[in-house]
Amino acid sequence: MALRFEVLGKFNRARAARLTLPHFICQTPLFMPVGTQGTIKGLTNSQLQEIGCQIILGNTYHLALRPGPELIDELGGLHKFMNWKRALLTDSGGFQMVSLLHLADITEEGVTFQSPVDGKPMLLTPEESIQIQNKIGADIIMALDDVVKTTITGPRIEEAMYRTLRWIDRCIAAHKRPDVQNLFGIVQGGLDPILRDICVKGLVDRNLPGYAIGGLAGGEDKDSFWRVVAQCTASLPEDKPRYVMGVGYPLDIVVCSALGADMYDCVYPTRTARFGSALVPEGILKLKNQAMADDERPIDPTCSCMVCRNYTRAYLHCLVTKDAMGSQLLSYHNLSYMMRLSKDLHTSIVEGLFPEFVQGFLRTQFPKGD
Ligand code: GUN
Ligand code: ZN
Repeated sequence: MALRFEVLGKFNRARAARLTLPHFICQTPLFMPVGTQGTIKGLTNSQLQEIGCQIILGNTYHLALRPGPELIDELGGLHKFMNWKRALLTDSGGFQMVSLLHLADITEEGVTFQSPVDGKPMLLTPEESIQIQNKIGADIIMALDDVVKTTITGPRIEEAMYRTLRWIDRCIAAHKRPDVQNLFGIVQGGLDPILRDICVKGLVDRNLPGYAIGGLAGGEDKDSFWRVVAQCTASLPEDKPRYVMGVGYPLDIVVCSALGADMYDCVYPTRTARFGSALVPEGILKLKNQAMADDERPIDPTCSCMVCRNYTRAYLHCLVTKDAMGSQLLSYHNLSYMMRLSKDLHTSIVEGLFPEFVQGFLRTQFPKGD
């Protein structure tokens, strides 16, 4: 195992921990910004460090297409290639193919898809996904899983869960660098508590360094989503990190942290920035709105990020959707907001003030109580 997970504080099920990875010591709860081609759109590495980013996520699928695993390996791994000295996590690739390509098809062998480069049929097996991730060299690598939308029903959910369990053994057997890279398993099983339970037990039996809860944030209602997270966190080991994949709305992060989850990733903060929306304690501030045109306040007067210290809403209103700098500045603020949220969650749990923090967060987001 190439990580250490030390719980520093608890409040009921919520935990604050120190997660020591080969390249960085992180604090949880932890939000991981998503980079695709080895970069977080619009931010430099030094800006990411400046806002307190501890770990970023890369996608095996994108990196395997370009520049390709062999080249990354030759150039000394992704850390060196992109000059990022802190922690990295790579997702296995299957989820991105299924969600990005219509022609992806899953068989027992792996995920088959048409190459977006030359249209040739390609196959990503669990073994290949791990070989590629071993070459990329991230601190945490993800097992190849069979992901189905939570909104579908029927036997396909069960098939995908059992296949994910069969594939985890192929992933474990293919993983050649367990001393420096941590392989996380992914719990599948849709919204079915029995299937989720079988999957959690199966993965826990494999004694992996960490566990992810997958197959969520795909259009299911909030009650179902929180019920699945609550069920999985209740039966995953206390002394290992728990990662809810693809989750990124501030409210969801607060609720999942209360339920005992530790790690999150989502494109939401940077994607919504490109559409001109800023994350603020009250919810969302739409910089495109005409009301911003002469507003001399910063995005968020309680935020001390570089953007809020230097620019007015009026100026940003002028830039958004017209100049790349607009989305870059909004991305910077939005990721700063997520880093501050992660840090506030951590601190409030350590200091025994988690209920007060959650209450304050909810009061600000829902002032009318609805
Ligand atoms: N990203 C968001 N959800 C998932 C999931 O279920 N599996 C994988 N591999 N990545 C994800
Ligand atoms: Zn700010």
